[in-house]
Amino acid sequence: MEANLPKRKETRKSMRIKVISMGNAEAGKSCIIKRYCEKRFVPKYLATIGIDYGVTKVQVRDREIKVNIFDMAGHPFFYEVRNEFYKDTQGVILVYDVGQKESFEALDTWLAEMKQELGPHGNIENIVFVVCANKIDCTKHRCVDESEGRLWAESRGFLYFETSAQTGEGINEMFQTFYSAIIDLCDNGGKRPAMGMSIGFTKEQADTIRRIRGSKDSWDMLGVKPGATRDEVNKAYRKLAVLLHPDKCVAPGSEDAFKAVVNARTALLKNIK
Ligand code: GTP
Ligand code: MG
Repeated sequence: MEANLPKRKETRKSMRIKVISMGNAEAGKSCIIKRYCEKRFVPKYLATIGIDYGVTKVQVRDREIKVNIFDMAGHPFFYEVRNEFYKDTQGVILVYDVGQKESFEALDTWLAEMKQELGPHGNIENIVFVVCANKIDCTKHRCVDESEGRLWAESRGFLYFETSAQTGEGINEMFQTFYSAIIDLCDNGGKRPAMGMSIGFTKEQADTIRRIRGSKDSWDMLGVKPGATRDEVNKAYRKLAVLLHPDKCVAPGSEDAFKAVVNARTALLKNIK
């Protein structure tokens, strides 16, 4: 009698989920999935044609989950094949290559494609997203740093992991956390637990860090017009310092942004009488 108990418990706690992969061609979506499911890496690029589908069973905490993985082709050519697979998804693995800036910049386009296909009633808020900053083994070619990727992900309430399908770094941890978050979502009645509350920084802070990163000179960085007075520079500086001071701001990249603002102010004040 007792021997049957765990089995019954397991059945009660088993569940089925649908997960999709998204991101530019060659970002490493298929390799990440292969690394996790088959524990191997294929260096040769074999483009996914349309969709690859697989089923895998995983144990997460006290749950057995049956995962239906739809690995999407990133090439624009396959848009029409991809678009019908977005619906009824609980989790999205969003991948970019840390050595390919375009693949990072394309993340917004991928989200937009998904939103468009889900339509006005599709609730993207109730899907768990994990962003994989992939190919971190290629250190020489890296052009998107951790804080930039993390900021993009966390400011949207998405999980963020640094991964390498080649070495396996970050892969198991990423999948475990991802599946765990999906279980939490299902237990929470299909609603993503309020991560916005726990990320610890505001949209204004995230947007300001992004603006500072993209600024073209010190005037632009402080948000003042070229030729601004000492007073105007100091006022702008104080506003940014309050927003980004490392004691107050935990947003990824805030420390570098704060330093850049300090340097910009020093450089400007040197030349203003
Ligand atoms: P599509 O199916 O065309 O959308 O591409 P994909 O995103 O599935 O890319 P795929 O997984 O096929 O990998 C593309 C290329 O990048 C292959 O040559 C892989 O061997 C290589 N690759 C994938 N992940 C890594 C990684 O972490 N490190 C390195 N060095 N190469 C990787
Ligand atoms: Mg692929």
